Amino acid sequence: MSTRFEPNIVAFTCNWCSYGGADLAGISRIQYPTSAKVIRLMCSGRVDPSMVLEAFKNGADGVMISGCHIGDCHYSTGNYRTLVRYHALESAMTVMGLHPDRLKLLWASASEGQRWADGITEMTETVRRLGPSPLVKTAKKTAKTREATPKITKKKAGSKKATKKGGAKK
Ligand code: FES
Repeated sequence: MSTRFEPNIVAFTCNWCSYGGADLAGISRIQYPTSAKVIRLMCSGRVDPSMVLEAFKNGADGVMISGCHIGDCHYSTGNYRTLVRYHALESAMTVMGLHPDRLKLLWASASEGQRWADGITEMTETVRRLGPSPLVKTAKKTAKTREATPKITKKKAGSKKATKKGGAKK
């Protein structure tokens, strides 16, 4: 019996728009995959590229960054920064051997619950087609190799066994 691959998706959302969209999708009972682990930040511009790479390193098969529509950022230009970083990350992912489709950028307002749900659904289907992240496979292989490797303990040169304190003199 084959089991369907359920990807791990990390979704960074901004507090003011897209988190509201995700919340609205939930309270409106709009169906979307449970693959998304939502991380709320004050602004999508707060998503540093290292956070995305860390997510992939720690087992994410895909990462979605979502924020307010261009021109609607509550910090004026935060999402312009997001856009620039997103394009830089796309290039970095190719270098790392990750398919660029494992990263998605979505603009969704607090009233766009359906749009947010559609975005995460589409992302899940794309990543499901791509399969598990090659970084996760590599990390598992490395962990297995580490387990199989006997531990070598170093002895300090000149170290002596501890002696009992206060031993009686004979
Ligand atoms: Fe939403 Fe900046 S506050 S993208």
